[in-house]
Amino acid sequence: MKKHRNLIGLRDLLVEDFEAMCVDLTSEFQEMAGSRLLITGGGGFLGYYLVQAVLHWNDTRPNSKIDVVVYDNYVRGVPDWLEALRDRPDLELRRHDMIEPLPADIGHFDYVIHAAGIASPMFYRAQPLKCIDANINGLRNLLDYAVAERDSGRPLKGFLFYSSSEIYGDPVAAAIPTPETYRGSVSCTGPRACYDESKRFGETLCVVYAKHEGLPVTMARPFNNYGPGLKINDGRVIPDFASDIFAGRDIVMLSDGKPKRTFCYATDAVTGYFKVLVRGRPGEAYNIGIDTPEISVAELAQLTVKAAQDLCGYSGKVVLGESSEKDYLVDNPNRRCPVIDKARSELGYEPKVSIEDGIYRSLIWYNHNQIAAVG
Ligand SMILES: NC(=O)c1ccc[n+]([C@@H]2O[C@H](COP(=O)([O-])OP(=O)(O)OC[C@H]3O[C@@H](n4cnc5c(N)ncnc54)[C@H](O)[C@@H]3O)[C@@H](O)[C@H]2O)c1
Repeated sequence: MKKHRNLIGLRDLLVEDFEAMCVDLTSEFQEMAGSRLLITGGGGFLGYYLVQAVLHWNDTRPNSKIDVVVYDNYVRGVPDWLEALRDRPDLELRRHDMIEPLPADIGHFDYVIHAAGIASPMFYRAQPLKCIDANINGLRNLLDYAVAERDSGRPLKGFLFYSSSEIYGDPVAAAIPTPETYRGSVSCTGPRACYDESKRFGETLCVVYAKHEGLPVTMARPFNNYGPGLKINDGRVIPDFASDIFAGRDIVMLSDGKPKRTFCYATDAVTGYFKVLVRGRPGEAYNIGIDTPEISVAELAQLTVKAAQDLCGYSGKVVLGESSEKDYLVDNPNRRCPVIDKARSELGYEPKVSIEDGIYRSLIWYNHNQIAAVG
């Protein structure tokens, strides 16, 4: 496709993203210096920035390095970006399914981030038990490991569980924007229940281990993150639009376009997750996302068309379509918008990337990753 604007190169874009995160996370990463960090599910979308922000920190602040270990079952293969980092001395990659008992030679970790799980509705509807097991059994294995480490005199300093904004289900109108205190309106039997309910019970486990075992366990509730690293074939809305654009098709909306969301660029979100890990209060959950603008999927589609016009002269339009999956829209919340005051006031969290800039940056990444990302 023809380029319209003088583009920032992908490498420069990513370095800019990593550096912005390291600046915002200076005190947190300094506190983590010299420690060993386990990221489960580090081969996934959020892993893209979780892992590479720390490695950028190590490259640019060599006196305060953090060692990263990734456990992932790599069901969709080891992604190219992670494979390219394999030989680094500050990174260890291990194939491990979190549903299985932890490896006997796991060693000590100071910080644990449990991000392994099936996050895409398209995939968890197809494999509901695997989704449940990663959120419940996988989490329980890690929490018991943290207890054992404490009992051996090597207590962990931080433990973050990835919950979800889906624990709120389809909130009543009065609960939008949604604060952490809202208890949710969730179906326990619908096609999304394997995800929503296992995240809810995962939070219960975290609170129990924080209160009864005194562990430093915190929870993040992500609200619609997007950006580089999110595979083009993941089945989520922005990569679906990117897939249409780079195939030269019209953008197909698989709903009437009315559901509303706020979309949080990955660098803002991942900065928030590290803040929850290091600064969060044990047993507490934090909404992480962006509170404005709340836009409809139809508006998102139009913004994406505009960015693609600027980026590569895209000439397609937005059309309505229907998913081949019968449960695609079942229990799909009408609105999803967070209150993020708790993260703001307790953690100093402040998302910065506008939706226009975030979509533009994402399309630059998809432009380079559309083929590599498939499969
Ligand atoms: N991205 C979002 O907007 C969002 C929103 C809410 C919650 N979350 C949660 O954040 C976490 C990370 O999400 P993501 O978007 O990076 O997902 P993702 O699907 O891109 O990545 C998840 C990673 O976990 C790995 N994995 C899955 N099951 C595993 C298992 N049993 N053992 C080991 N590895 C396993 C996968 O191979 C993949 O690399 C998930 O728990 C997800 O539910 C994400």
